[in-house]
Amino acid sequence: MTSSPAFSSTAFSGAAATRYADAPPRQVPGFHDLHRMIRLLLAETLPPDARLLILGAGGGLEMKSLAEAQPGWHFDGVDPSADMLQIARQTVGPLAGRMGFHQGYVQDAPAGPFDAATALLTFHFIPLAQRVATLRQLHRRLKPGAPLVLVHISFPQDEPARSQWIARHVAFGAADDADPARLEQSRQAIAARLTILPPEQEEAHLRAAGFRDVSLFYAAFSLRGWIACAD
Ligand SMILES: C[S@@+](CC[C@H](N)C(=O)[O-])C[C@H]1O[C@@H](n2cnc3c(N)ncnc32)[C@H](O)[C@@H]1O
Repeated sequence: MTSSPAFSSTAFSGAAATRYADAPPRQVPGFHDLHRMIRLLLAETLPPDARLLILGAGGGLEMKSLAEAQPGWHFDGVDPSADMLQIARQTVGPLAGRMGFHQGYVQDAPAGPFDAATALLTFHFIPLAQRVATLRQLHRRLKPGAPLVLVHISFPQDEPARSQWIARHVAFGAADDADPARLEQSRQAIAARLTILPPEQEEAHLRAAGFRDVSLFYAAFSLRGWIACAD
């Protein structure tokens, strides 16, 4: 598949969802090492029986990675796409016994309180007007001091930097023989449909929602990752 389906509004239904597992390792630099970093960071402070909230859990890749590393951790995964949640169930297989799956948005998540939360490759799908509110909804479900991990597309939004970074992002995830017309479609879809913010605005949103110790731990081409603590 080309890079476009993973970023279109219909990306997370039907056949596109079925193909999902192939996309992140190709589109996200160091995808497996990124999961390893997140496992290490969370294990620094979480107890052996931790309960984690996974926002945008569709596909199940991070739930599988975290659950395999930590046999005592339990997970609640939330995602608006029924198809992506079904893929997640298939991906995690027998690990599903330690997991709950909830179709919906952050406000539909269990109340917790959780020991940690993650939202990987998800926040760029959340409109600007809902960003801080979504972070506040995550914050209210976390125990005091609990970590939140965010990883998503973030780069400068002034031109020409914005257009250059969209083109670089598409090019990185594309096959060598990708059709130029499809690449242009992908660039246009990202520009029109994703909410991409500069890193400093992302960090300001985290602080506005009540998170402290905001720390950039991952910066790879068009993507950034932060860990922060709930006050
Ligand atoms: C690119 S996938 C990432 C899935 C998974 N976190 C991963 O890293 O492989 C984005 C997911 O976010 C979900 N999503 C889109 N908008 C969302 C929202 N407002 N709240 C929660 N999840 C959302 C999609 O349905 C999709 O499953």
